[in-house]
Amino acid sequence: SHRVMLGPLVAAIDQGTSSTRFLVFNSKTAELLSHHQVEIKQSFPKEGWVEEDPKEILQSVYECMERTCEKLTQLNIDISNIKAIGVTNQRETTLVWDKETGEPLYNAIVWLDLRTQSTVERLINKTPGRNKNHLKHKTGLPISTYFSAVKLRWLMDNVREVHEAVVSRRAMFGTVDSWLIWCLTGGKSGGVHCTDVTNASRTMLFNIHTLDWDPELCRYFGVPMEILPRVRSSSEIYGLMKICSSRKSGALSGIPISGCLGDQSAALVGQMCFQDGQAKNTYGTGCFLLRNTGAKPVMSDHGLLTTVAYKLGRDKPACYALEGSVAIAGAVVRWLQDNLGIIESSEELEELAASVGTSYGCYFVPAFSGLYAPYWEPSARGIICGLTQFTNKRHLAFAALEAVCFQTREILDAMNQDSGIPLTQLQVDGGMTSNRLLMQLQADILCIPVVKPSMPETTALGAAMAAGAAEGVSVWSLSPEDLSEVTSEKFEPQINPEESELRYARWKKAVQKSMNWET
Ligand code: G3P
Repeated sequence: SHRVMLGPLVAAIDQGTSSTRFLVFNSKTAELLSHHQVEIKQSFPKEGWVEEDPKEILQSVYECMERTCEKLTQLNIDISNIKAIGVTNQRETTLVWDKETGEPLYNAIVWLDLRTQSTVERLINKTPGRNKNHLKHKTGLPISTYFSAVKLRWLMDNVREVHEAVVSRRAMFGTVDSWLIWCLTGGKSGGVHCTDVTNASRTMLFNIHTLDWDPELCRYFGVPMEILPRVRSSSEIYGLMKICSSRKSGALSGIPISGCLGDQSAALVGQMCFQDGQAKNTYGTGCFLLRNTGAKPVMSDHGLLTTVAYKLGRDKPACYALEGSVAIAGAVVRWLQDNLGIIESSEELEELAASVGTSYGCYFVPAFSGLYAPYWEPSARGIICGLTQFTNKRHLAFAALEAVCFQTREILDAMNQDSGIPLTQLQVDGGMTSNRLLMQLQADILCIPVVKPSMPETTALGAAMAAGAAEGVSVWSLSPEDLSEVTSEKFEPQINPEESELRYARWKKAVQKSMNWET
């Protein structure tokens, strides 16, 4: 059998909250050639706590790389054509490991985790005027359980091993990108300890204007700066893959890791939203709407975050974005499956909901981790309301899908108010977008068309593009013209706007109840 001739290939590791993927793209056409995906276990040791095992995360990356390489070989594609690897990841999730043993010192505390709620409340109460936006001028973020700094503080205060490693200068802090890049470039024997500006901008220790760690913020959270990774751009060679030859993924050794972006930033790049005003919404575990604001960080008056969108090269300027973050989107599907057992797969949810086509006045606010944008209310909790004798699991399934759409509507409204220029359509991506009912509901609830690219792996594509475009690699130019026609599917709104408004108004009432149910 003869080898398939292709141009240079670029790969991406996409380490999300619920799963890990490794994907290989043709850098001439952006065509996805092969990939593999592995689910990640989440543990909930106490109410509100969410953890993942750093070694399982790393193992899942190796497994995905191995299986993808096998698939490429079966397709007669030469692995040595892979010229660069990009990393993209769930953001904010916090790890500390020992640089001498290479061992993680605790589980990864996942971004959704609520254990720092009382710390956050205490910090806010100490600010002048009890202002959760006290650090926003530097970080672009409200003080919240969501970001890494408070999680790291918790680890230093509550885990003896972490405390001791910090004191004896053996501790390394990182988000998932840092952990993976350090391990994959050699770990305890010479691994590179770095992160990129987009991931750094989610820690609350990073000044988004100077693009560096901020000594004052580090003092505020009591974080010693020597445990922090070096901050680099999103597209440059960080180091070379170093995998022992006994592993099946050993063939990838020596390939530069040259792209790094938080997953939401990567999706923005993968959707080619390079112009000021362009936006995308990604439906993963959570749901994140980012709008490019160009070279300047715009501060929101409506509860959105200001974040670094990307910096595609050491000498390139940083681009910023406004972000609306929703904590629970795909996670509600997993909850219906694992906790209530009313479905066995996510596909089943669509069938179940479609079989009734309405929630019959039932509203489901899945505020499992408090509410994120635009409320930033850590004490909110999930509620289901409007139940009658008539309500069944089908209506509940429908209400769960609607919840994702209503939450998106709230952040879209905030985005439109902040920018003054309403979006005329919404570009979407992520796992849940394969649910056609959800896409139609989304268009109905937003009253604008929803546009979905036919290649759903835009997050990985963005990381691969950044890796392929890095100086010293240069097998991918970042101009959209270079890509073969991007095909997409459009969902037009089909219900009348009055009905849409009425349902949205009820949703907002339900949200108010989720915030005040204790009082
Ligand atoms: O901020 C968290 C986000 O990066 C997680 O993304 O795709 O795992 O929901 P996802």
